[in-house]
Amino acid sequence: MVRNLVIFGTRPEAIKMAPLINAFKNKEGYETKVCVTAQHREMLDQVLEFFDIIPDYDLDLMRPNQSLYTLTASIITELQVVLEDFTPDFVYVHGDTTTSMAASLASFYAGARVCHVEAGLRTFDKRSPFPEELNRQLTSKVADLHFAPTPLAKDNLLREGINPDSIFVTGNTVIDALLYSVDRVQSFSNDDIDVLEPILDSEKKIILVTGHRRENHGKGFLNICSALKEIANTHNNVQIIYPVHLNPNVQKPVYELLSGLDNIKLIAPLSYPAFVWLMNKSYLIITDSGGIQEEAPSLGKPVLVMRDTTERPEAVKTGTVLLVGTDTDKIILEASKLLLDSAYYKQMSSLENPYGDGSSSEKIIDIIKRYRN
Ligand code: UD1
Ligand code: UDP
Repeated sequence: MVRNLVIFGTRPEAIKMAPLINAFKNKEGYETKVCVTAQHREMLDQVLEFFDIIPDYDLDLMRPNQSLYTLTASIITELQVVLEDFTPDFVYVHGDTTTSMAASLASFYAGARVCHVEAGLRTFDKRSPFPEELNRQLTSKVADLHFAPTPLAKDNLLREGINPDSIFVTGNTVIDALLYSVDRVQSFSNDDIDVLEPILDSEKKIILVTGHRRENHGKGFLNICSALKEIANTHNNVQIIYPVHLNPNVQKPVYELLSGLDNIKLIAPLSYPAFVWLMNKSYLIITDSGGIQEEAPSLGKPVLVMRDTTERPEAVKTGTVLLVGTDTDKIILEASKLLLDSAYYKQMSSLENPYGDGSSSEKIIDIIKRYRN
C-alpha cells in the first residue's frame, strides 16, 4: 500500500487539491490521508465541506492577523508529529502559500518524496507576489516531482535547471474542481446563493470584485476602493458585488471606504459553489486573485487583474485577462471600456481556457503509478 499525504492550508489550495484527493480515494493500492495546517479557517472549512473531505490531521494554526514568521515556524514544528506518525511515501503540496513552502521542507526532512502540484508558475520578481514567488521557487528546489499546469510553467522549471524527467504537464486541477462544481451547484440548494439571489438586481451588470494580495495592502487597497467608488458613481447600470477577504488588512479599508454605497454590496466570502455561481452571473471580474484568473476564461468572463505582474500570462495572451495594477485611473478606464464598448467586451470574453480540461487529477495519478515502487 502506497501512503499518500496531502498537505494544504488555504482556500485556493483546498479547492485545487480536492479533486486529486477524491480521485485518489477511488484508486486501489493507495492510502491517502489529508493534513490541513488550517492557515485559513472559515474560508478553508467551507471548501472541505463542499467536497466532502474530512481531514485526518488538522493543525488548526490560523491566528488573527498572523505573521509569516510564526506561521512558518509553527507549520514546520507541528508537521513533524504528523510526518512521524504517518510516515508517508509521497507528500503532495500545492502552489505557493506559506503552507506549501514549509510543508515541502518538513516533508523533505521526513524523507518523503515531495510532489508539487501547480509547479513552475513564475513572475521572476521575488517580491511580487509577496511572499508567493519565493515560496514557489523554494518549493521547486525541494520537490521530487513537478506537476506543471502548462508548457510555459514547464519551461520555467527547465530554465532553473530542474531535471526534465521529473516535470510533467498535467493542466491545472482548478479546472477539475470548476467543472465538478458547475455541475453540482445546479442540483443542490446552497445557503449563500439563497441569501445572494434577492440582493442581485437583474437590470444591472454585475461587477464581481475580490482582493487580498499582501503587496496591495495599504496604498494599493486605498486606490482600488477609490476606483470602485468612482465606477459605481459613474455607471448607474452596474452593481458591484464584493465578497471581502477575511484578512483584517483588507477588511478595514474596504469596509471603511465602501460601506453604505447604493450599488456596492460588501459581503462575507462566499462558499466555493456560490462563488462559481456568481462568477457565471457576472459581466466582469476585477481581482488580484491567482485562481480566479484561471477559472474565468472557462466561463468567458473578462478579468481585470489588479497586479503589475502575473505568473499566469497564458490567459493574458489569449485575451481574457488584462493587468491593470492598482492605479485608480487605469482600473476606472479599463472597466468603463468594458462596460461601454460591446465589441471590445466580446473580444475579451473568449471561452478558450489554457489551464486544462478537467482531467489533471487523473493525469497526476497516472504519473504517480510509475513511481510507486
Ligand atoms: C494566503 C496566502 C496566499 C493565498 C491566499 C488565498 C500566504 C503567505 N498567503 O493569504 O498565498 O493567495 O491565502 O486567499 O501563504 N483569516 C481569517 N479566516 C480565514 C482566513 C484568513 O480570519 O479563514 C484572516 C486571519 O486574520 C489571518 C489573515 O486573514 O491571520 C491572513 O491569512 P493568511 O493565510 O496569513 O494570508 P492571506 O492573505 O489569506
Ligand atoms: N473563492 C471562493 N469564495 C470567494 C472568493 C473566491 O470560494 O468568496 C474561490 C475562487 O473561486 C478561487 C479561489 O477561491 O477558486 C481563489 O482564492 P483566493 O483569491 O483567495 O486565492 P489565490 O487564488 O489568489 O491564491
